[in-house]
Amino acid sequence: MIEFSHVYKSYNKNYILRDLNFTVNKGEFIFITGPSGAGKTTTLKMLIALEKPTHGAVKFLGTELPDLKQRDIPFLRRKIGFVFQDFKLLPNRTVFQNVALGLEVSGIFGDIIIKNVSEILKAVELYTKKDEFPLSLSGGEQQRVAIARALVQNPQVLLADEPTGNLDEETSLIIIDIIKSFNNKGTTVMLATHDKNLINMGRARVIDITKS
Ligand SMILES: Nc1ncnc2c1ncn2[C@@H]1O[C@H](COP(=O)(O)OP(=O)(O)OP(=O)(O)O)[C@@H](O)[C@H]1O
Ligand SMILES: [Mg+2]
Repeated sequence: MIEFSHVYKSYNKNYILRDLNFTVNKGEFIFITGPSGAGKTTTLKMLIALEKPTHGAVKFLGTELPDLKQRDIPFLRRKIGFVFQDFKLLPNRTVFQNVALGLEVSGIFGDIIIKNVSEILKAVELYTKKDEFPLSLSGGEQQRVAIARALVQNPQVLLADEPTGNLDEETSLIIIDIIKSFNNKGTTVMLATHDKNLINMGRARVIDITKS
């Protein structure tokens, strides 16, 4: 489903990824790991065409992403949900509106929005906070809003960038359980983290990008 083949990435002639090779199959749950600055975020961003490889191929469902036309990028981003390391929630929109935004940009409105957003907010146990604003929520709650926003379009793939970054162990486990429950229903998951405890608990395949 996902294939990185001989991927190199440099910023200002400084290579951060050298000959990165891996594949991810449909339905898999994998960890992307490596120390801070290793290129985990960059690796995930290449899959939603926010970054391009300097050399090599990044493929999703057989299509080489750097070749994707600008007009096809929104279709790609409907198939791949992205949980950003810094959440990127809109502070002046409610929890409900933040999650609904992902559907509105796809041209979905009305009752379907209410149904789908309500369902996903219940799944992440945030329905009672739907009318609150992000800054009045705890870090773990904001993280769950970001996950709900990524999952509301029922994407084929979830990319979660350090989704337990600043959370305590108990809250981290709740977040991982939520992500795992979607993986059990068929969503392919790539989770970037440098947290060794999380990886040890996860019992999933690990791709260490520093060993590429
Ligand atoms: N747009 C950019 N321009 C220049 N350098 C960049 C850019 N984006 C990332 N980098 C550099 O590339 C390297 C890898 O960054 P990246 O964010 O992918 O690392 P990371 O593994 O996600 O780190 P962390 O664990 O801290 O989130 C860093 O040294 C960073 O400074
Ligand atoms: Mg990162």
